Amino acid sequence: MLTWMGVWAFMCGIMGYIGDRQAQSVLLSGLNKLEYRGYDSAGVAIAGDAELQVEKSVGRLAVLADHLAMSPIVGKVGIGHTRWATHGRPSDENAHPHTACDREFAVVHNGIIENYLQLKEHLLSRGHRFTSETDTEVVAHLLEEYFTGDLFSTVLRVIKEIRGAYALAVVAEKEPEKIVAVRKHSPLVVGFGDGEQFLASDIPALLDYTREVHILAEGEIAVLTKDGIACYDLAGEPMTVEPFFVTWDAQAAEKGGYAHYMLKEIYEQPKAVRDTLSGRLTEEGRGVVLPELAWTVEEIKKIDRIHIVACGTSYHAGLVGKAAIEQLARIPVDVEVASEYRYRDPILSADTLILVISQSGETADTLAALRNAKACGNRVLAITNVVGSSVAREADDVMITWAGPEISVASTKAYTTQLIALYLLAIYLGQSLQVIDAVFISELVHEMQTLPQKLDDVLETAPQIEKIAQAFSTWDDAFFLGRGIDYFVALEGALKYKEISYIHAEAYPAGELKHGTLALIVEQVPVIALVTQDVLYEKSLSNIKEVKARDAYVLGIAWAGDDEIAKSVDRVLYVPRTMSFFAPVMLIAPLQLLAYYASVARGNDVDKPRNLAKSVTVE
Ligand code: M6R
Repeated sequence: MLTWMGVWAFMCGIMGYIGDRQAQSVLLSGLNKLEYRGYDSAGVAIAGDAELQVEKSVGRLAVLADHLAMSPIVGKVGIGHTRWATHGRPSDENAHPHTACDREFAVVHNGIIENYLQLKEHLLSRGHRFTSETDTEVVAHLLEEYFTGDLFSTVLRVIKEIRGAYALAVVAEKEPEKIVAVRKHSPLVVGFGDGEQFLASDIPALLDYTREVHILAEGEIAVLTKDGIACYDLAGEPMTVEPFFVTWDAQAAEKGGYAHYMLKEIYEQPKAVRDTLSGRLTEEGRGVVLPELAWTVEEIKKIDRIHIVACGTSYHAGLVGKAAIEQLARIPVDVEVASEYRYRDPILSADTLILVISQSGETADTLAALRNAKACGNRVLAITNVVGSSVAREADDVMITWAGPEISVASTKAYTTQLIALYLLAIYLGQSLQVIDAVFISELVHEMQTLPQKLDDVLETAPQIEKIAQAFSTWDDAFFLGRGIDYFVALEGALKYKEISYIHAEAYPAGELKHGTLALIVEQVPVIALVTQDVLYEKSLSNIKEVKARDAYVLGIAWAGDDEIAKSVDRVLYVPRTMSFFAPVMLIAPLQLLAYYASVARGNDVDKPRNLAKSVTVE
């Protein structure tokens, strides 16, 4: 039997409030914004004038909200949690907050406490009674065991005993006027209000209440009281913090009229591309400037190889990045899945650059690969979408993708902006090393500037794609084919399709079909063939003929103006022509829409596909 650890390894959302409002409604509204972090169970603990009260239940946040609507908890201090199971199956008992024997302490936790079994054994021998299968519950019992009358110093003592990754928030019945929170390898943000303070796993949960926020540093402890927030290091020494003002529109983190976050995020891509390019092209538009990389030409010349390390969609962007960097800068690049990379012993010279890509900046495997590389003394460049994320904080150099908050589990605009960041990097390296000439650089830069408008044009084909997706959604399989860079996009198209439609989808380099997969091609099975790589055009057509000869239903996606392709496939979707090099930016939007509409047609929960969560913050 599979154990929970290592299989159900996701993240959770934490919310905390102290002030004059009823905590219940603030906690529910914050948790609602954090549900993308996990949604198998939820709970709140509220301290008021009476005893600490806890309500929790398995299922979506709505189930908890229903319970609380029927029996509201009165109180102005509270912590809440939305869970994705790691230790212990989703159940009422395993839902957070967790309490100890006397129910005087409540704890919510995101992460994993690695030594919980030893701690539990010790606590059991001391007479503590456990009610859940979670690792988190040990924290509540440790608080009970060590409580000295001062919650802050007790938390300091408890965190000396626990090992692992955690963000914790704690309330105590005996000190109902405070919340103590601590961050170690799991994100936590505090928000400053007027006579009220907030705590959350992520900024959007706070934006209805405050825009003055502080992202806790590794090992930082925050004590929230109604009148303020005091921060301390692990030794209990006070720290000075400077809150920053969040300028995003709160709407930016909400659906804004679209049926799903995913659809909204697909449509945000032209803007996200524009924002990611902004400030990174020279004024006369003839080159790339990356002010965030203070690298000298000498330093760039020394880079002998680049290892790109990432997971899922970010890994697929990395594959395109390899093609771009190798072609434009002639630096050899390897691309690896972080969960594999971190456990092998890669051959690194002192001059190998490690490039990690992560939308969230919190993916545990990517972060571990980053840390390994740093431990070897290698320079790490990160491409991430989240300012202040662990990856952004720990890398030597950071390129932010300005996609804005991505809420849907299926990554869309983050991928497109990762591509843009990688193209910018490739041009920047090529230009610094003088591998590419000035004329070619300005052609590339000029073409990049046209991509947002072209993407807008692609999105206008959504109604056609919806119809095709509806027809495909009745099939149990789909095959995505491409050659060269098109194959890398096919991989991302297939991931998107299976992730949200739950239809079996496979991507193949089209030339490889005859080595096995062709056996699966049967009459009418959907095949999506990407055909934008000019040098491989004839080869791609002949691969399409191979599947057509087996009576597959072939949807071709090709350049506008390609009349030839229509003779070989059942249906064509045209995308505006750009340089073959930038084809992924054009191809990915129809593939995202195809997956989206197939998911809708099958009645799936598009934004929260089963068994998945937005970021995988533990192994
Ligand atoms: O936040 P990250 O980019 O590090 O996340 C990596 C993957 O977990 C992520 O891309 C995942 O594959 C997406 N859900 C795919 O849509």
